[in-house]
Amino acid sequence: MSRTRVGIINVTGYAGVELARLLHQHPEVELASVTGRSAAGQELMQVFPHLSNLGLTIEAKLGKVDLVFSAMPHKDSAQEVIPLVEAGLKVVDISADFRLKDAEEYPRWYGFAHPAPQLLSQAVYGLPELHRAQLASAQLVANPGCYPTGAILALAPAVKAAIIAPEIIVDSKSGVSGAGRSLSLQTHFSEVNEDVSAYALGGHRHLPEIAQELKLLGAKSPSITFVPHLIPMTRGILTTAYAPLLPGKLASGKKGEEELRQLYLDFYQDEPFVRVTEAPPHTKHTWGNNMCLVYPTIDQRTERLVVISCIDNLVKGAAGQAIQNMNLMLGLAETTGLETLAVYP
Ligand SMILES: NC(=O)c1ccc[n+]([C@@H]2O[C@H](COP(=O)([O-])OP(=O)(O)OC[C@H]3O[C@@H](n4cnc5c(N)ncnc54)[C@H](OP(=O)(O)O)[C@@H]3O)[C@@H](O)[C@H]2O)c1
Repeated sequence: MSRTRVGIINVTGYAGVELARLLHQHPEVELASVTGRSAAGQELMQVFPHLSNLGLTIEAKLGKVDLVFSAMPHKDSAQEVIPLVEAGLKVVDISADFRLKDAEEYPRWYGFAHPAPQLLSQAVYGLPELHRAQLASAQLVANPGCYPTGAILALAPAVKAAIIAPEIIVDSKSGVSGAGRSLSLQTHFSEVNEDVSAYALGGHRHLPEIAQELKLLGAKSPSITFVPHLIPMTRGILTTAYAPLLPGKLASGKKGEEELRQLYLDFYQDEPFVRVTEAPPHTKHTWGNNMCLVYPTIDQRTERLVVISCIDNLVKGAAGQAIQNMNLMLGLAETTGLETLAVYP
């Protein structure tokens, strides 16, 4: 049987090129076409020597494929995706353009009026751990943001079990590849090396996405403070989420910690890409693979939930999760092509 032909729009960004690397080891699909603006006409391996086994030319326009990944910047991605969806293709959009259900959030957070609000209800938010059943029949999947992936997976079991008050703090540290491949002063080596800084304190674009999904899990009017930080590493996001525990929901002391751990183990028991760890995880434990590692505990002195999560922003936070979604859309085993272990050290 012939393999499903897939394409990548904007292979020249970090998310796009990571998709090419991961799709190369996928046994059930063929990477048939890749596009890129500035590199159109060049061999993929010329532009990215680490992809030397992929004999593809970067095209200006997508060739004939059955499923498309868009790895374009937001706003421009919607312009590419809308005609493809209208033409009946399956699409996984890695940008933010179809993640928010309320079209009015787009001018506020992204600075543009959504060009196809009717597609927002059709798009399925591509976090398989929460929306697996809908993903199987989805034509358009909105791949989650990198920060929201780590934050939502850290909080989902606690929110679903209604053991926390909705005053939530999400503190995240990201490697610099999260800012993309385009050159900017903020991501210049001499600016980020030996430096750590917080940014977007007035409200980061990923905040409405985190709130949207926590509300669907049962959080009533969540009040979320989300502070992202840029740290001098290439890949990875470490998130620490905090929220007050509601009185009487868990036993006191060590027993409460065991109950909390069991609640997380139960919630994620069948998940191939989320593991509840026995010690606080490191970003290095997910380097290059599709895992999200989650460590829940209790600050006994303040009776606060503390959850740490780690992902690779380019894999579970982007390209790997997009392939996980593709597998579900195509009726393949969810883990196909994604079994790679993390790189260490
Ligand atoms: N980086 C991450 O960790 C991450 C995680 C999750 C989601 N995402 C999302 O994935 C998408 C891509 O992000 P990225 O980090 O991979 O971006 P990136 O590395 O910054 O890629 C941007 C590239 O896109 C090209 N580009 C920009 N505007 C374009 C346009 N109008 N038409 C065609 N090409 C254009 C530019 O390439 P040329 O100038 O060379 O043509 C630029 O190098 C974004 O929507 C982002 O939000 C990224």
